[in-house]
Amino acid sequence: MTTAPQEPTASHASSSPDILSPAFAADPYGAYRTMRAHAPLIRHEATDSYLISRYEDVERVFRDKAGEFTTDNYDWQIEPVHGRTILQLSGREHAVRRALVAPAFRGRELQEKFLPVIERNARELIDAFRHSGETDLVEAFATRFPVLVIADMLGLDKADHDRFHAWYTTVIAFLGNLAGDPDVAAAGERTRQEFAAYMIPVIQRRRSAPGDDLLSALCTAEVDGVRMSDEDIKAFCSLLLAAGGETTDKAIASIFANLLGHPEQLAAVREDRSLIDRAFAETLRFTPPVHMIMRQTAVEVELSGGTVPAGATVTCLIGAANRDESRYRDPDRFDIFRTDLTGTTAFSAAADHLAFALGRHFCVGALLARAEVEAGVNQLLDAMPDVRLADGYVPSEQGVFTRGPTSLPVRFTPVGARPDRG
Ligand code: HEM
Repeated sequence: MTTAPQEPTASHASSSPDILSPAFAADPYGAYRTMRAHAPLIRHEATDSYLISRYEDVERVFRDKAGEFTTDNYDWQIEPVHGRTILQLSGREHAVRRALVAPAFRGRELQEKFLPVIERNARELIDAFRHSGETDLVEAFATRFPVLVIADMLGLDKADHDRFHAWYTTVIAFLGNLAGDPDVAAAGERTRQEFAAYMIPVIQRRRSAPGDDLLSALCTAEVDGVRMSDEDIKAFCSLLLAAGGETTDKAIASIFANLLGHPEQLAAVREDRSLIDRAFAETLRFTPPVHMIMRQTAVEVELSGGTVPAGATVTCLIGAANRDESRYRDPDRFDIFRTDLTGTTAFSAAADHLAFALGRHFCVGALLARAEVEAGVNQLLDAMPDVRLADGYVPSEQGVFTRGPTSLPVRFTPVGARPDRG
């Protein structure tokens, strides 16, 4: 027997703004609460998808133990801007591709080769403001750091940073173009051409003269006799800039926004840096950089609140699921010491938050993101021991598909300028 998805009742609909409305963009969390409680499955006409908001449903879709879901949505959601990427693959094809790229993002490769790159990029950015006593952490650090790290890991020219930033911003806008704005779609497709014109010659040069960088590793990597073509590598680099740039950018801004808003937790992290992991895990739960991930149904599927037909698009509301009161106590409270979120597994596919998804497409860059956040937060706290928000500034978030603080103007006493103590 099948059940139709529940329509929110009039009173619930009026208290739960549509996901494309300005009210939702201003504060999605109240709407998420109403959806979880009263409309866990919503047929959403404008995005032609089914919205799901409960932890158990989103977790089930991501884990996909019964093979009921595909990532075919990426054929229209990202292929027009990136080309065909790992996100669209499944089964053995996905496993082989993942095995080709994953080693660079974990273990010795990450620790020995890329950690120094991460540390250096954080230091260079902080050097630009460490003596000034004030900065905007979003503009001066968060939006620049992850994309510089990826460009450096790939061995690309950092002088082109502004272009990378513009490209990934356009790509993310395309991905989150829920309202179908034609200008956003056209800009995304232009970016695909510009990025290909930039990257393909670089890939060809790197094939003939490989170096010690990630791009060279991708050019030579081989699993079961399979290698990546120029087009595959270009598409993967394009995905890396967007998937690794925009997300970690928002994560770093959000961890600071959350800690600056909770000075006692900021003080605890400043004193005990091993708490950075917990603060990052709780930030991923409380204010995830990616709020929505889509899937297609391969078969008819029963979820809380009704049945989704085969061949439909499901929009998994990560931001809602991560605040499900049946999973987390007092979910709207930021608390790095909460006991119902496991810090040690937060960056692996055993994570109990949903910010990196779960299952076979679990974020391949999770440990890289963790290394970036750890290095960035450590260095920023060293440079700005008494960091605080500029007087009267109240942080606000922007974005519906991806989401993070708009800006974070802070003040601090530069380290050398602090009066001697004792
Ligand atoms: C806090 C930062 C990050 C967040 C919140 C995040 C989030 C996600 C999510 C939700 C997915 C799953 C997409 C899906 O299942 O449809 C994903 C996959 C992916 N992420 Fe991340 N990501 C982050 C950092 C990074 C970094 C730093 C990189 C690399 C530079 C990266 C590269 C990727 C790739 C390549 C995939 C596709 C994996 C696959 O299909 O097997 N991500 N990420």
